[in-house]
Amino acid sequence: MLVPRLIERKRDGDRLSPGEWEAITRSYGAGEIPDYQMAALLMAIYFRGMDREETAALMGAMLGSGASLDLGGLGKARIDKHSTGGVGDKVSLLLAPIVSSLGIAVPMMSGRGLGHTGGTLDKLESIPGFRTGLSLDEARRQLETIGCAMIGQTGEIAPVDKRLYALRDATSTVESIPLIAASIMSKKLAEGLTGLVLDIKRGSGAFLPSFDRGVELAELMIALGQAAGVPVVALMTAMDRPLGRACGNALEVEEAIQCLHGEGPPDVMEVTYTLGAEMLVLGGIARSVDEARRRMEVCVSSGKGAEQFERIIEAQGGDPSVVDDPSRLPQAKVVEFYASPRQGVVARVEPRAIGRGVTALGGGRRRMEDAVDPSVGFVIRARPGDVVKVGEPLATVFSRDEAGLAAGMAALSEGITIADEADPPLPLVSHRVTRDGIAVYEAEPWVRTAEYPVYRGGFGT
Ligand code: URA
Repeated sequence: MLVPRLIERKRDGDRLSPGEWEAITRSYGAGEIPDYQMAALLMAIYFRGMDREETAALMGAMLGSGASLDLGGLGKARIDKHSTGGVGDKVSLLLAPIVSSLGIAVPMMSGRGLGHTGGTLDKLESIPGFRTGLSLDEARRQLETIGCAMIGQTGEIAPVDKRLYALRDATSTVESIPLIAASIMSKKLAEGLTGLVLDIKRGSGAFLPSFDRGVELAELMIALGQAAGVPVVALMTAMDRPLGRACGNALEVEEAIQCLHGEGPPDVMEVTYTLGAEMLVLGGIARSVDEARRRMEVCVSSGKGAEQFERIIEAQGGDPSVVDDPSRLPQAKVVEFYASPRQGVVARVEPRAIGRGVTALGGGRRRMEDAVDPSVGFVIRARPGDVVKVGEPLATVFSRDEAGLAAGMAALSEGITIADEADPPLPLVSHRVTRDGIAVYEAEPWVRTAEYPVYRGGFGT
């Protein structure tokens, strides 16, 4: 195989055959293609793109570079949810226990936080003792016994994707839709799923802020799933403000526990129920999203979801008593209110500034090898549209020291804008994308009015 010739063809806008993608992936995995040639090919892909057949071939080859979970013997539907990531997004922490307690196997494979976004693995590891590094065998056994495992990408799953992702990170080639779709789907399909629900974030704090690029990614991942016989449904959700109130690892676990006790913020519950309803319908547990939603609400009000979270924590070596007593989670040493600098309306709570603030406090990573402090972060009560007085507490900073406190206050001052008026925020769940196309999502009217009383009726699409 003449690698420079393949790079040249891609650079000039040609397409490579499935056999060529397979050979490239295999040779790269075997160490026969050096990183400098692969980096050049990635940059050619970044500028020239790949068609669906090429993307499917790359994804299949990355999937085939490692092992897969064989869950056929479980005898029930296996559904996961994947979010493109954001700030304050703790949905996985409650969704996995709720949905798995209702009879769906949830092999949830998540990532770590990077840049301004948080990661489910870091959040789970703030629970004392919690082990996310299960082997595939351990994950399979846990799925058999309790129906859910919350794990990271092990060395066994799509190892070529793991190396390629690190190379993309170092060569500014992450933001390529075919590369993202192939990367995510190679790992998701290795989970042995019978269905997948995607939460595609849109808005300023999203990985891909533009709505059109988000839809493009959703459509491509749906097509890749379909080609592999796995139905995929995507929902477009808002990331123009943090989701919920807590941003930071242990603080988000605490908020997820509140949600499982029926005391969570309405936006977190709404996104969780909407995604979970799709999972239950895909898995054949409910006939409609309305029925699915009712079952999830009962699961929360009866305490069944919280009990399942305890089971998962215990199975993975963590301290399950945090579910009854979240004060057992790591606690920050310095806690201080951030007060409104003026009277007015909350115009923006900018997720990127808040996410960067969590990193400045020590709760996020600039580089993959950085350690995170689980105790730090923010609890932000102010929501876009709220009318506030000067001096009113808008948020709380949780820090390990006085220097962190100053950085946290600066991040809140940058991230929260108080003005004389505010534009309406994006609708929380705006569109549903399936293989049949894209439709405006019809949320129940009470959801929007309860959360955003100022903008009753004025959301558009
Ligand atoms: N997450 C992944 O797993 N891969 C990407 O390429 C981007 C986000």
